[in-house]
Amino acid sequence: MATFTICCLPGDGIGPEITTEAQNVLTAIGRQFGHTFTMTDEPIGGAAIDTHGVPLPEATLQACRESHAVLLGAVGGPKWDALETAIRPEKGLLALRKGLSLYANLRPAVIFPELKEASYLRPDIVADGVDVLVVRELTGGIYFGEPRGREGEPGQRRAMNTMVYDETEVRRIGRLAFEAAQQRDKRLCSVDKANVLEVSQLWREVMNELAPSYPDVTLEHMYVDNAAMQLVRDPKQFDVVVTSNLFGDILSDEAATITGSIGMLPSASLGDEKPALFEPIHGSAPDIAGQDKANPLATILSVGMLLRFGLGLEQEADAVDAAVADVIAQGLRTGDIAGPGEAVLGCRAMGAAVVDRLQARKD
Ligand code: NAI
Ligand code: MG
Repeated sequence: MATFTICCLPGDGIGPEITTEAQNVLTAIGRQFGHTFTMTDEPIGGAAIDTHGVPLPEATLQACRESHAVLLGAVGGPKWDALETAIRPEKGLLALRKGLSLYANLRPAVIFPELKEASYLRPDIVADGVDVLVVRELTGGIYFGEPRGREGEPGQRRAMNTMVYDETEVRRIGRLAFEAAQQRDKRLCSVDKANVLEVSQLWREVMNELAPSYPDVTLEHMYVDNAAMQLVRDPKQFDVVVTSNLFGDILSDEAATITGSIGMLPSASLGDEKPALFEPIHGSAPDIAGQDKANPLATILSVGMLLRFGLGLEQEADAVDAAVADVIAQGLRTGDIAGPGEAVLGCRAMGAAVVDRLQARKD
């Protein structure tokens, strides 16, 4: 029996709809396992620009810092597209990740057996399913390295970015990836470009130095160009993939795409301190906002990750994952995952179905 404060950031577009369903699931888990989840809604993104003039109000960041975990819907939409970059909704999310020092982005890409047709890969390749966890370094590497910038007159223009990692940064993301592998199939693939980049050689060295501390995990190394190919050729060979910011940005989108269903994929952003941040990988889907059409399962699975990685509640996390697998196996579908002629549920009905399954599994 414990009490947890969860800071909820519904955001824009479908954000409030999917967040509400995820909150209902959290409440149901609390009832079932005897926890109290105190949830507060705070503004972020376009909603915060409208009411506070900035995408991440100081009070929102403060409320996040005082919570055990943060659950985010999505931010952005056409209403704010004309704004200058510094005050766009997406800035709120970047500022939040930075403000909470979240250096690791975890993105599981799972193909549910009943949703194989949604995959862009050949049926024989996904026949046994896909279950890859991409661990991307989020606060270092070429996106943040100095020097950076542009110079020169037309005809002589130059631009530069710098890829830099120190061993502390590599070690902390490495540890997190090894620990994630210990909780899964105990296979870790570290992706780099060590045949060309000194940064990657250091990355590889540090991963090898960590390996003896995790004797139950098998570590292998792969060049990023080969990894990009192997992900679509034979995704089943991967369990946990760990890589730098740039390579992870690309590979995590690739891994998500092979599952075919953007409405089903959760993510976690973790640091050394609490709280961590949990959110679906999709955006605010303005085209279907306010119509009760959104798939809430990516956000509900993000609640699963919140329980597992944010609060250390394994059983509770397993219960959420199992309830989602159940509703998919039952044939319940929102529009984004429905096949031709299949009945389509709304966002609220899908959320309620997951809560029902949780209840039914308990009985
Ligand atoms: P999007 O992910 O919002 O939508 C892409 C397509 O997938 C749309 O057709 C949408 O209807 C569909 N879709 C997305 N989530 C769905 C769900 N849960 N259920 C059913 N269908 C779903 O990406 P898009 O259109 O590129 O971006 C829209 C806005 O979201 C932009 O302002 C963008 O900047 C923002 N965005 C925000 C993110 C975040 O908050 N983390 C991430 C990506 C985009
Ligand atoms: Mg990306």
